[in-house]
Amino acid sequence: MTGRLTLRNKKIILGITGCIAAYKSADILRSLVKKGADVWVVMTDSAQEFITPLTFRTLSGNPCITDMFDKNNETMPLPHISLSDGADLLLVAPATANILGKAASGIADDILSTLLLSCSCKKIFAPAMNTKMWESKIVQDNLKKARSLGIEMVEPDLGELACGQIGKGRMAQVEMIVEHVEKAIGTVQDLAGKRILVTAGGTKELIDPVRFIGNMSSGRMGYEIARAASERGAVVTLISSSELSEDLPGVTIHAVQSAGQMSQAVKEHLPHNDALVMAAAVSDFSPSKKSSRKIKKGEGPLNISLEPTEDILGSVSGNKKGKIVVGFALESEDLIANAKKKLKEKQLDMIVANDISAFGAKDSRVSMIEKNGSVKKFPMQSKYDTANRILDRMF
Ligand code: CTP
Repeated sequence: MTGRLTLRNKKIILGITGCIAAYKSADILRSLVKKGADVWVVMTDSAQEFITPLTFRTLSGNPCITDMFDKNNETMPLPHISLSDGADLLLVAPATANILGKAASGIADDILSTLLLSCSCKKIFAPAMNTKMWESKIVQDNLKKARSLGIEMVEPDLGELACGQIGKGRMAQVEMIVEHVEKAIGTVQDLAGKRILVTAGGTKELIDPVRFIGNMSSGRMGYEIARAASERGAVVTLISSSELSEDLPGVTIHAVQSAGQMSQAVKEHLPHNDALVMAAAVSDFSPSKKSSRKIKKGEGPLNISLEPTEDILGSVSGNKKGKIVVGFALESEDLIANAKKKLKEKQLDMIVANDISAFGAKDSRVSMIEKNGSVKKFPMQSKYDTANRILDRMF
């Protein structure tokens, strides 16, 4: 894969410890935010002797965490647990000899050192200290131990230190640290310039103003495709009949309800896109008559007559004008054979065959079948990972 790296949608915890280089952390924060990261700053007591939490709260747009037991913070009563949730990286810059020692020995006596233990995400330290401290046997031993525990280091530079001495110990350049972060957790912008239309969710076919025929689809697969494509730089439009209310940064969401509305929206948006991924569970039938008022139970017994809806994929594929069209096949039996049949009938470029167990679930085990007949089976994985594998094969 080629292209620029982005930190869009990445959650980074920036730990700041007590060192004169703490003022440079403000520049690290600005640069990470500019690259799209959601940054949460955690400061030790000594860090606050050098620079105030207000600076970081203002620059990050998030509360700056300084206390393990902040009784006034009702939204985050246990910050070492809530902050770890969904974090992609814990970056400690500057990292003093003290935090290095705590990390190497498992000491958890304040919010930052506790986070180091409770957070299972990737960790990077940018150490900064006086040359004599840096070269001391105990610091070098701790450095080795911390590395062996999986903490990556952006080593300090050689140069003039705050005390006037020349030697190794000055925190690495801000650009170097940010580059290290991008390489560690950044996403390649390999879909920049592409426009992708995605559908998600089960459609709802109204019987009367309060009742509908629907299905169990959560819409998760379509949402993850939209999320992954947007992270990789594509311009994404999501036509959604899902109840999910998650934020999808950069994605334009167009809400629809019925199969008819979804069909109309797909036809309207497809000409402006390079590809269509039809992940929605479109109802195959819709009531022939929709009552404009609530049907009363006294009117029963009730017979609802259903008529077929339009096959959206079938109707747009015949005239797709070079666009890539991907469908899904949800089957309870003969998964691959049925999916191959749908691929051909709907004139698709690729079909993602989904076992019925994936319906509404967090993970999925799919097979991707391309129009040349090749079948690639994937192991059980998160729908986000499946989304990325689909995008890998589309372009
Ligand atoms: N699809 C569509 N329009 C419909 C029904 C389905 O575009 N009216 C799309 C789905 O979004 C999916 C693909 O067609 O990408 C296959 O959907 P699926 O429900 O597996 O198959 P159906 O074509 O509905 O056939 P069946 O229900 O008989 O398996």
